[in-house]
Amino acid sequence: MSRSAHPAGPRHADVLPEGHYSAPPADLNALDPKVWAETVGRGEDGVVTVGGIDVKRIAEEYGTPAYVLDETDFRARARAWRTAFGQDADVFYAGKAFLSRAVVRWLHEEGLNLDVCSGGELATALSAGMPADRIAFHGNNKSTQEIRRAVEAGVGRIVLDSFKEIVRVAHIAQELGKRQRVQIRITVGVEAHTHEFIATAHEDQKFGIPLAGGQAAEAVRRALQLDGLELIGIHSHIGSQIFDMSGFEVAAHRVVGLLRDIRDEHGIELPEIDLGGGLGIAYTSDDDPREPHEIAKALTEIVTRECEGARLRTPRISVEPGRAIVGPTAFTLYEVGTIKPLDNLRTYVSVDGGMSDNIRTALYDAEYSVALVSRTSDAEPMLARVVGKHCESGDIVVKDAFLPGDLAPGDLIAVPATGAYCRSMASNYNHVLRPPVVAVSDGEARVIVRRETEEDLLRLDVG
Ligand code: LLP
Repeated sequence: MSRSAHPAGPRHADVLPEGHYSAPPADLNALDPKVWAETVGRGEDGVVTVGGIDVKRIAEEYGTPAYVLDETDFRARARAWRTAFGQDADVFYAGKAFLSRAVVRWLHEEGLNLDVCSGGELATALSAGMPADRIAFHGNNKSTQEIRRAVEAGVGRIVLDSFKEIVRVAHIAQELGKRQRVQIRITVGVEAHTHEFIATAHEDQKFGIPLAGGQAAEAVRRALQLDGLELIGIHSHIGSQIFDMSGFEVAAHRVVGLLRDIRDEHGIELPEIDLGGGLGIAYTSDDDPREPHEIAKALTEIVTRECEGARLRTPRISVEPGRAIVGPTAFTLYEVGTIKPLDNLRTYVSVDGGMSDNIRTALYDAEYSVALVSRTSDAEPMLARVVGKHCESGDIVVKDAFLPGDLAPGDLIAVPATGAYCRSMASNYNHVLRPPVVAVSDGEARVIVRRETEEDLLRLDVG
């Protein structure tokens, strides 16, 4: 279809259907730095560049779809978190957001620790040289083999998630002649203001041991009795994509309350508390995330104040940001295929990926923005829905967004802020191949996770 051949889709505010969007932005060619990685900009020819490389070149060399990750931005964000928390606190990057060996090396070099939650993540971390004592091992249903492997490797901490696990880790450690450093994850009973599926500190759910009814205190009692364990602290993670610090305030208050009770009952002051991750990022221009130094200041003040109130020494704080570090550093680059304008509704723009590379829109009703990146355009804005190539109508990447009305097959568009939980939750649905992750920095691009091939798919199919 030629650029002018398709009928105009709905374009003006008076014919717009209901949706999440506000008015079309004043300039569709502008790239809001809130949602785009640090080194992203437009060259003089109008083509978007990242790390000094233009996206057309990336598409030619590596194909589409592709996750394009700005290494400079990743390192800067990792460093900003590290610096903000200083020497008296630890930053554990949450590997579930996105993990690869290159990422592990960057984290190591930038002085961060790593939180893993499965044998696979642990194997990736160890194989890329992350020192085991800088790894925290999480999970609500760790297998015996995973625990054994973590203890053998000498991970810095295992975060205990159930009564069964307290005993299991203690036994394995003893068998191996070790004393394992552990924290106990508790649920403090906070309703985080986020999507139900990613809120984790209310009591009715699978993570942690409830503070309510004295269960957390009982877990501490048991852990303290077991020779294989060295209890170093209490852990709380209240949820994800959170902007409001009040949830952390309540969580810190309750965790410190438990530390006070432990001191009163056992005469010991646990040296650490971990407040988890969950800090929100900007997916669209409407989101206003806080900077790491503001978050560090707020959390440190809250914990210090609470400890003064309880007459406790302030414990060492650790945090586990995943999304806030990697999320904004990548965009997904797609090629536009079929374009279907529906009268008085919207224009469906199909791309060469979809829910297999970004399940977040379908799963959490997540909002994203999108831009034409292979050229600029002065055409009127059209209300678009960016959809994938999968066999279901829920296969939506960007639900409501404005794109130039002259968008055409072969154009490249990009969805920013896809660094977290997109590649890590990618699937092979419809036997679509998972895209590569291309890291760019200082004028150089390199594949850090290669594109999946049909051979990869067929290798697993041994029937
Ligand atoms: N620590 C713990 C114990 C966690 O469970 C998580 C995330 C984090 C840290 C990191 O949270 P972050 O800073 O990245 O928000 N798939 C969902 C997010 C699930 C988060 C699970 N746990 C999404 O795409 O939004």
